[in-house]
Amino acid sequence: MIEDHGENAAPSAEGTASFGFREVSPGEKTALVRGVFDSVASRYDIMNDAMSGGVHRLWKSAMIDWLRPRPGMRLLDVAGGTGDIAFRILDKANRGVPPGKAPAAVTVCDINAAMLAVGRDRAVNAGRLDNLDWIVGNAEALPFAGSRYDAYTIAFGIRNVTDIPAALREARRVLKPGGRFLCLEFSNVDLPGLKQAYDFYSFNLVPRMGRLIAGDAESYRYLVESIRRFPDRAAFADMIKEAGFSRVSVRAMSGGIVALHSAWRI
Ligand SMILES: C[S@@+](CC[C@H](N)C(=O)[O-])C[C@H]1O[C@@H](n2cnc3c(N)ncnc32)[C@H](O)[C@@H]1O
Repeated sequence: MIEDHGENAAPSAEGTASFGFREVSPGEKTALVRGVFDSVASRYDIMNDAMSGGVHRLWKSAMIDWLRPRPGMRLLDVAGGTGDIAFRILDKANRGVPPGKAPAAVTVCDINAAMLAVGRDRAVNAGRLDNLDWIVGNAEALPFAGSRYDAYTIAFGIRNVTDIPAALREARRVLKPGGRFLCLEFSNVDLPGLKQAYDFYSFNLVPRMGRLIAGDAESYRYLVESIRRFPDRAAFADMIKEAGFSRVSVRAMSGGIVALHSAWRI
């Protein structure tokens, strides 16, 4: 069963927000992003493999390795979509739970019920009903009490959020003191040769693949454009500090195509 707290409106941000290369009102951005993931939900996992040549699995593994999830932990995966990160966390954390210790449990929260439904179906088909909750909710106004989680993860989600500072403040609020924040996101490519090839691939081939595989070129054009509008690694690290986190550190991977930002609520 998926619990729906999608009506939990975030305080509306002022001004405009970028939807890919377009400027729109904040409310419009949230609705447009929702439309993107409604449209791609059923083909999302297959497109991830096709677009990245499977490399998204390595990036996600690197995130889980750095997180080091363990039995007894309560984790929140925001913008968790079809549950990829949650399944990986549980696989790693609950391999050999010591007697008397509770297994790790993950709450997957996403604004889009269609993405969560695909994830929940994956879980049902794999017989993985334990230690997983599926909650519809907005990263900017999480439907959870404060100081509740040992770790907060967000993978390829934060750049889709309209009010990123609000989402970062919410991440800190729901973490226990001593809790860990870990974000995997596309980033700025800084190798000159790679940058040109990556731009050509992103703007020319990805929308075509989106049309062929998911029947939707426009949504994939948005995803590519939104990567270019996202702050660079240093600027995003500053935003995390601004939200009150400590010990912010960054690891770039694949020439800067993606980055992991880690921080702690002290
Ligand atoms: C690119 S998918 C990433 C899914 C998953 N984390 C993964 O790595 O495969 C981005 C997800 O962010 C979700 N999302 C966008 N805006 C959100 C918001 N404000 N709050 C929560 N989830 C949001 C979308 O619905 C979508 O499922």
